[in-house]
Amino acid sequence: MFRIVSSNQFLPISCLLVLTFCSLAIGENINIHDRIESLLSKMTLAEKVGQMIQINGYDGKIPKDLKQRLREGGIGSILNEVNPEINLEMQRIAVEESRLGIPLIIGRDVIHGFRTIFPIPLGQAATWDPELVRACAGIAAEEAASVGIDWTFAPMMDIARDPRWGRIAEGFGEDPYLASVLAAAMVRGLQGEDLSAPNTIAACAKHFAGYGAAEGGRDYNTVYIPEGLLRDVYLPPFRAAVDAGVATVMASFNEINGVPSSGNAFLLRQVLRKEWGFQGFVVSDWGSMSEMMNHGFCSDLKDVAQKSIQAGVDMEMVSTAYADYLEDLVNSGAVPQELVDDAVRNILRVKFQLGLFDKPSPYSLKGIHKPSQKALDLAKRAALESVVLLKNEGNLLPLSRKIRSIAVIGPLADEPYEVLGTWSLDGKAEDTITPLQAVKTFLGESADIKYTGGLPYTRSRDESGFSPAVLAAEESDAVLLFVGEESALSGEGHSRAYLNLPGAQEKLINTLAATGKPIALVVMAGRPLTIGEISRKVQAVLYAWHPGTMTGPALVDLIFGIESPSGKLPVTFPKTAGQIPVYYNHKNTGRPPQEGAFTLIDDIPVHAFQHSLGNTSHYLDIGYLPLYPFGFGLSYTRFKYANIKLSTNNIKIGDNIRVSVDLINVGAMEAEEVAQLYIRDLVASITRPVRELKGFQRIRLKPGEKKTVTFDLPSQDLGFHNTDMEYTVEPGKFHLWVGGDSQSVLMTEFELVE
Ligand code: GLC
Repeated sequence: MFRIVSSNQFLPISCLLVLTFCSLAIGENINIHDRIESLLSKMTLAEKVGQMIQINGYDGKIPKDLKQRLREGGIGSILNEVNPEINLEMQRIAVEESRLGIPLIIGRDVIHGFRTIFPIPLGQAATWDPELVRACAGIAAEEAASVGIDWTFAPMMDIARDPRWGRIAEGFGEDPYLASVLAAAMVRGLQGEDLSAPNTIAACAKHFAGYGAAEGGRDYNTVYIPEGLLRDVYLPPFRAAVDAGVATVMASFNEINGVPSSGNAFLLRQVLRKEWGFQGFVVSDWGSMSEMMNHGFCSDLKDVAQKSIQAGVDMEMVSTAYADYLEDLVNSGAVPQELVDDAVRNILRVKFQLGLFDKPSPYSLKGIHKPSQKALDLAKRAALESVVLLKNEGNLLPLSRKIRSIAVIGPLADEPYEVLGTWSLDGKAEDTITPLQAVKTFLGESADIKYTGGLPYTRSRDESGFSPAVLAAEESDAVLLFVGEESALSGEGHSRAYLNLPGAQEKLINTLAATGKPIALVVMAGRPLTIGEISRKVQAVLYAWHPGTMTGPALVDLIFGIESPSGKLPVTFPKTAGQIPVYYNHKNTGRPPQEGAFTLIDDIPVHAFQHSLGNTSHYLDIGYLPLYPFGFGLSYTRFKYANIKLSTNNIKIGDNIRVSVDLINVGAMEAEEVAQLYIRDLVASITRPVRELKGFQRIRLKPGEKKTVTFDLPSQDLGFHNTDMEYTVEPGKFHLWVGGDSQSVLMTEFELVE
């Protein structure tokens, strides 16, 4: 029974409650705030600058000069040391042998796992499963923390619309909504509920900002992004990470609209601090500060130091501008002391939040000697959910578990290292279970398994292995063919101008297709590849990205139907590199193409009249549709969407829209579907994309089962930045779709009213 509080009593009690709540909430900050201020007041300028310096580790050693710098409080962070004893000793020296005992923050790239390697982030994005992404990050944090890592440079959340860019592998694809949800999930997984807990580490939102829009998909290249596009497409994942409490942000290598990110006060002070209220610290990328001289933005290293601190970079990764010049700049008055104090406050705040000052000394680290079963089970589930079924002609898959003879072929069929993917620094190939190993375990003696690589590695053009491959195929009932990219063909600095399968892999596929044996092709790569031609030569295609430690068991469960594939593409697949950029949330243009409204190159009559081929936005040789659209992925069952309904068709701006749709498994196998919700704002003061993802849900249904799926869509999510760079939601008509990919057709419409 509620006790009704009369209005004259209500006020004092409510104030008391509010004050109590605020003091509790701030209480922790007052505690950290006071500790920061107290420490800062004792620090010399040299010790303050020391906190802003990050150096690379010495691979299991602590040289004498490093010990001296640690004792002088001249280093704030070390990255890339993973030997727990060394990390313990460096921390001990920093804490016990320096004047103020400020601990180091030790960093490492833990991008998709530490010892247990999960799918590359682009593969994790294909799961459309934020809870799974969070769980994987939690395991990664636990494993990294066990060797003394306090901080990782992840999640990477650069929106990428260009698969030539090698770092598309490290992010969550082309869509701001999907990337925002998954970036926040990964931050929560890494940092947990309590950043000071021994099994959590500080995360880092990178690379701020616009790095994925490098011209030509060539890494580190120039970036031009109009501010409206920057705010509507490239910044949302970073905002989501900040709102999720990310402890740090990394400035990107690239210049953006003429100003390198490490010297970009608009990004680092205006957007990140003033607009978003970010409280953590900003670290440069590796040498990105000193590279501002190459950019032609800074004249020398002293200029680098001045422009970087003025722009808002708190810590310098490995270059030495701050170490060499920041003290002089402050002492000469060129840089206000306050800027240095604020930078150090930001760094100390994260160190206090991490509990680094409160660790018992000495403390121990348990290290990690091999992945736990829990980690491996999660890695298998993540790999399994990440795989996208692109083709399944004649329902070749799943293969019968009673198959009598099978050929397992390809350079990635029994390759334990390459399937770990890029940035798998601390993963070990010895932990990987390869597809061949998993097929042997699954089929045992019940089938005759013939294995041959066909090619020694993915780039190889040595065809001497083709004959044994043909023989193996001819003597088998079916062929499992594992192809793709070695891990070094994607990732940092590894852009490609051609996106076909490297080496002689396509020739190998054609050669095996000529045997007439049914082929299930499994492609493992760090990016979308132009596999259109090749896909026509095989009956089934599974796209597995780089699945990590549990590649084999996950693929075998899919190939033999223990589970149905459920992955959905987080990025559009182009028909050819010449079609790039191609992405689903494009604008309509004044002459949108329609199938049939133009003549393709092979059908153009000789001496055709110059202007007779259909003046719409398409290519004469490939039309305009992608090879596979964003959000696409098949299943071993079939899902039907029906009965789409809205809470009302007239929505007041500020209200939510409740959307419901019936999803039915009309096939014969239990499976999971990712139901996706898209909208289109038909007319606005700034043209809007033809589709925008605004919601998704992963749902498991038994054969014949129906579920009414509901989405609550805040109308506030339907806005964009107008010409005044204000976020605005404009009245007008909208289309709304719910379906299994970005070209789904079940649609309804509503009107937004003032
Ligand atoms: C690299 C990358 C960045 C990484 C850092 C530390 O060059 O750009 O993503 O976190 O340096 O390894």
